[in-house]
Amino acid sequence: MVRLKTPEALESFRQEILSKRNPDKPCISICAGAGCVASGADEVIEAFKAEIENQGLAAKVNTKGTGCPGFCERGPIVVIYPEEICYFQVTAEDVPEIISETIKKNKVVERLLFEDPVTGERAVHESDISFYKAQERAVLCNNIKIDSRSIDDYLALGGYAALGKALGGMTDVQVLEEVKKSNLRGRGGAGFPAGRKWEGSRNAPEPIKYVIVNADEGDPGAFMDRALLEGNPHSILEGLIIGGYAIGSHEGYFYVRQEYPLAVENINLAIKQAEEYGLLGKNILGSGFDFKVYVHQGAGAFVCGESTALMTSLEGRVGEPRPKYVRSNVKGLWNRPSVLNNVETWANVPLIINKGADWFTQIGTDSSKGTKIFSLVGKITNTGLVEVPMGMTLRDIIYKIGGGIPDGKKFKAVQTGGPSGGCIPEDQLDLQVGFDELTRAGSMMGSGGMIVLDEDTCMVDVARYFINFLTEESCGKCVPCREGLRQMHRILTNITLGKGKEGDIELLEELAETAVEASLCALGKSAPNPFLSTLRYFRDEYEAHIKEKRCPALACKELISFYIDPARCMACGICLKKCPAEAIDGGKKKIHIIDQEKCTKCGTCFEVCPAKFGAVTKISGEPVPEPIAEEKRIIIKKSKKESK
Ligand SMILES: Cc1cc2nc3c(=O)[nH]c(=O)nc-3n(C[C@H](O)[C@H](O)[C@H](O)COP(=O)(O)O)c2cc1C
Ligand code: FES
Repeated sequence: MVRLKTPEALESFRQEILSKRNPDKPCISICAGAGCVASGADEVIEAFKAEIENQGLAAKVNTKGTGCPGFCERGPIVVIYPEEICYFQVTAEDVPEIISETIKKNKVVERLLFEDPVTGERAVHESDISFYKAQERAVLCNNIKIDSRSIDDYLALGGYAALGKALGGMTDVQVLEEVKKSNLRGRGGAGFPAGRKWEGSRNAPEPIKYVIVNADEGDPGAFMDRALLEGNPHSILEGLIIGGYAIGSHEGYFYVRQEYPLAVENINLAIKQAEEYGLLGKNILGSGFDFKVYVHQGAGAFVCGESTALMTSLEGRVGEPRPKYVRSNVKGLWNRPSVLNNVETWANVPLIINKGADWFTQIGTDSSKGTKIFSLVGKITNTGLVEVPMGMTLRDIIYKIGGGIPDGKKFKAVQTGGPSGGCIPEDQLDLQVGFDELTRAGSMMGSGGMIVLDEDTCMVDVARYFINFLTEESCGKCVPCREGLRQMHRILTNITLGKGKEGDIELLEELAETAVEASLCALGKSAPNPFLSTLRYFRDEYEAHIKEKRCPALACKELISFYIDPARCMACGICLKKCPAEAIDGGKKKIHIIDQEKCTKCGTCFEVCPAKFGAVTKISGEPVPEPIAEEKRIIIKKSKKESK
């Protein structure tokens, strides 16, 4: 068994691994992240193994299941090295062709390449694909290159070199100073400088201290932490060990939600492998530094991502926040100094130690350094995980990487910062992403959620949706959050149902102010954000709902009606056949009419009416026109002769 006793032994072992690897030998990397597995990656991996065996290529080609590169909507993803040929939506049936064409003849299988939805061009290599091209992948870049279950793969790409450097050549204070100099800010929420947090713990008198990974990732739609935990667990572990060394802690914890079974499995395996290699445990790399790591599974409550609730849960009690009279880096887990950082924050630490704080501070804005991973979803052409330098504009993220808004729709807003984030409108698309920039715009960075909304989205309904989520996730311990959010949700729901009244906006503002001022934890304090930001930029939509009973986006069911324009209806019968409520009356050559009493406003008729007719319209804030008289409903098609 390998046991690395010094930093030099680590380096020579790395060289030994590299010497056994031939960089020119074809390697087929198949994403084995949860997204691709859900789309059939396991079968694809098995098919590759079987085909390689059948064709007698086992000695000539490597295959591996890797971490998620972020483009899950196009999974299963296969990358063939050394050429870096990328194939998307690969099935087990495609495998024989890939082997016989690409591996044997060096030919590309055109139909499996990425086809740009905007330009229609096909791209062979990752670097040619619009989704990846404008990204700067410092943290995520190794996900697709390594088998996340192999410590040797991590070592081959320079893994644990930062740990060797820190333990072999730097004092704990030097490590701390490097992280402080980098101005690394927490990637999980508030953007607090990591170095300052670490320093507070280090200086705290209590000798037993803890370092913790916040891998709770409760934001709906966010999966950047999961991708790292599943895809490159050693990078987070390495950061955690370095952090432990810097602050004088000998015990670390991963707090992972139990809904992430693959992440839990891969982290446990990474810990076991690191222990076997002597990178965890007693006297790591001969430095005299001891460090142990435990994994704790959370039950998946959103509030348990909050620092004090997380620590209470780790202690084995109900995960409820507690007042922060003293910061948790001084009095945290079991009342001892505890540094809690997000997954992505920890994963940045080895990069900073390896490449130096000066490298890190070259990237980003004045106050936000490095890169940030966002989960780009919603009404956007390319969805997935994107890692960009801080300071990139929202416009570039949405249009250059995301490929813009699909179906010819107009952009309306982008919601950033998770459920308690805010919505940013079109006239601020040139805003540079950064902690302070987003906060000034009334939103926040949060952990990196980015939901794009198009013209069909009702902003009052967006606020209602997120406040509902937060109401349900409130732990209920403090009144402003528990009762205040419930009331905000009730009023917002009424507005979307057309029952809004004068004074509602003012009442919502008062409730929001109270929640911000008086809630116990940041869940309640930030929860009014979805309302406040939509009110700031889309007040006219609130007023239209309340005063005119009109939903300008034509989205709120209770405020819209569907109507068939008799001048456009060609009596094709499609809407009549598809209407699940049997609310449409019509017949052959008979203009169709919607029975407003029976209509459930599901929108099926609107969707199925052929675009060339465009007979079904949505209206709001105005009465539905009276149906035309029965005798006028027959369509008499004129013959060509007559019409001349
Ligand atoms: C309700 C709530 C949920 C949170 N959920 C998470 C989470 O899932 N992951 C995370 O890293 N931080 C979360 N945070 C932020 C943490 O409280 C804390 O600020 C963060 O883990 C610190 O790490 P960082 O400085 O590296 O960002 C949450 C905060 C609140 C108020
Ligand atoms: S899981 Fe495969 S690309 Fe994300």
